[in-house]
Amino acid sequence: MKNRLLVTAALPYANGYIHLGHIAGAYLPADIFVRFKRLCDEEIIFVCGSDEHGTAIEISAMKESVSPKEIIDRYHFANKDAFDKLGISFDIYSRTSNEIHHKTSQDFFLNLFDKDLLIQKTEKQLYSEKDKRFLADRFVEGTCPVCGYEEARGDQCESCGSNLTPLELKNPKSKISGDTPVVKESMNFFFPLEAFQPKLEEWIKGKANWKSNVKNYCEGWFKTGLKDRAITRDLDWGVKVPVKNTEGKVIYVWFEAPIGYISATKELFIQRGTPEKWSEYWCEEDTRMIHFIGKDNIIFHAIVFPAMLMAHGGFVLAENIPANEFLNLDGAKLSKSKGHGILVKDVVESFNPDVVRYSVASNMPENKDSDFSWEDLQAKNNNELAAILGNFINRTVVFAKSKFDNKIPTRVSKEIPEIFSYIKSQMKIIEECYNNYKFRDALNETMNIARAANKYFNDSEPWKVIKSDEAKCGEIINDCLQIAHSLAIAVSPVIPFTSDKILKVLGKDTTDFKWEKIGELVLLGGTELGENEILFPQIELPAAKEEETVVAEDNLIAIDDFKKVKLATAIVINAEAVPKSKKLLKLKVKCGSKEKQIIAGIAEHYSAEQMLNKTVVIVDNLKPAKLMGLESQGMLLAAKIDGKLKVISVDGEIADGADVS
Ligand code: 2FM
Ligand code: ZN
Repeated sequence: MKNRLLVTAALPYANGYIHLGHIAGAYLPADIFVRFKRLCDEEIIFVCGSDEHGTAIEISAMKESVSPKEIIDRYHFANKDAFDKLGISFDIYSRTSNEIHHKTSQDFFLNLFDKDLLIQKTEKQLYSEKDKRFLADRFVEGTCPVCGYEEARGDQCESCGSNLTPLELKNPKSKISGDTPVVKESMNFFFPLEAFQPKLEEWIKGKANWKSNVKNYCEGWFKTGLKDRAITRDLDWGVKVPVKNTEGKVIYVWFEAPIGYISATKELFIQRGTPEKWSEYWCEEDTRMIHFIGKDNIIFHAIVFPAMLMAHGGFVLAENIPANEFLNLDGAKLSKSKGHGILVKDVVESFNPDVVRYSVASNMPENKDSDFSWEDLQAKNNNELAAILGNFINRTVVFAKSKFDNKIPTRVSKEIPEIFSYIKSQMKIIEECYNNYKFRDALNETMNIARAANKYFNDSEPWKVIKSDEAKCGEIINDCLQIAHSLAIAVSPVIPFTSDKILKVLGKDTTDFKWEKIGELVLLGGTELGENEILFPQIELPAAKEEETVVAEDNLIAIDDFKKVKLATAIVINAEAVPKSKKLLKLKVKCGSKEKQIIAGIAEHYSAEQMLNKTVVIVDNLKPAKLMGLESQGMLLAAKIDGKLKVISVDGEIADGADVS
């Protein structure tokens, strides 16, 4: 039986604060899984840390006129603290700016270099004489050759979504100084990803228990054909390329970031005083490595990183990559009027972290995008946590305190009520859910124990029994307290802070705090109970204010202007990826009796499969435009929520071909 578990959660960039979308995507499922496995006494480590390189960080620093170090320090410590307050129980939260990471990444790079696996290519790049540097990706801005947008970035046009290279921009300008760059040649190293395609395909084929979204995504990439990838950049900020005559070059952030999982593991075992032990986790075949990530990171974890590990040799490959879809934070809009943010650092100031965890877990975007709202969080607290779990614990403890002198009443009979075998069978069901990464189901089945517990209390009527048979009543209350202990274990992966509180009120230490003890009678009669507290006070949300959208007077348009735009509903009858574009999908839509081709910049948010059969709203009278050489005869409407696109759809409500006004 493979038993050593290495759990990783995507290393967040240290140039922004962690929000609930990140939590739902990777960190909460990872933490729940890890907490469950710890309860099962499995050997496990949970590693994460800040991703501290990349142009985005340098740009943030430039915008604020501070050093990249100042940026990464600010966000690293803030995010570490926010994770901590939300109970995300990493064994280590490291950082890729640490020396051990630079060294580990450089050694990894050298291993491939020494084996002659890396391809060196000299290519034209933009260079600013004034800034004395090459202008990679976001360091250059210019006019998009596809749509004419004047502030397109060197890696992509935010207006039409086209993937670009700096050299394709018309009228390019340095983002640093505004200087007009010149073209200069530069050598960079490429990883031979194309050559790894057959091995990767074979490997993924054997992964019967991977989620279909992850497998489909990989198949899409295989269909297009993997291409060799540049793994060095002409930049200052990052891990220096460890090869002679490569001054001014760093290892590309997406090459070194996943190596951060290895460096973090090394650091963890140095801290624990067993520095050699990292290799057991990374190099021994009976390790099970699980990467928790959001869907935008699939390519790097399911394709690029495994290929790197194969190329290096001697490392285990991931057993599973249970990537989640996105959690849409429609609360972001509400947040302003209600005074709550959706950033974890703010949310944990206003709410019990367990309520946040519970509400996110019950809406976890396991198979499709889901929505988070404050109303839902309130409902989950008031109608589930308080009304079911909190209520059971409270009524049991209050009863024991008042009728049994604040002690756990003693059992006399040896008979064990039926509910305990039900709880044992639930334990098996929940286990199965966790082992298959079905966190929503696991939570629901866990709450079923609390529901059954309330029913047991009601059906046993201890308040009546006490009048005629105190010993019998004592047994009932003993049962209920034992069930409370089982619940403390069962809920702990999701709501660990509450679990601790239940344990305290039961006057119990952690001796029996193990998954296998669920459904067992472990509390001793006569034990003094601890202080009772209301576990989930009711949450009141301030009344929603009308959202005010303030539009500057001179930006107002007349109704006639709006009438010029012809909107209509249309159904997607065909959808496919646009080769060589990460952003674009080629859609064929039917709008009443006509059909149109629309090239939509949504591929990072929707797969072709997800778009098929959606009824969307399109701008029907847009002049045709060419994107990546393909004619687009309209556009579809989408909302941007926290950086993610959500296509406006009227599925099942309105047929295609209807005018929208
Ligand atoms: O998408 C992101 O936030 C990346 N920083 C994730 C990196 S995951 C890993 F490979 F390090
Ligand atoms: Zn464009």
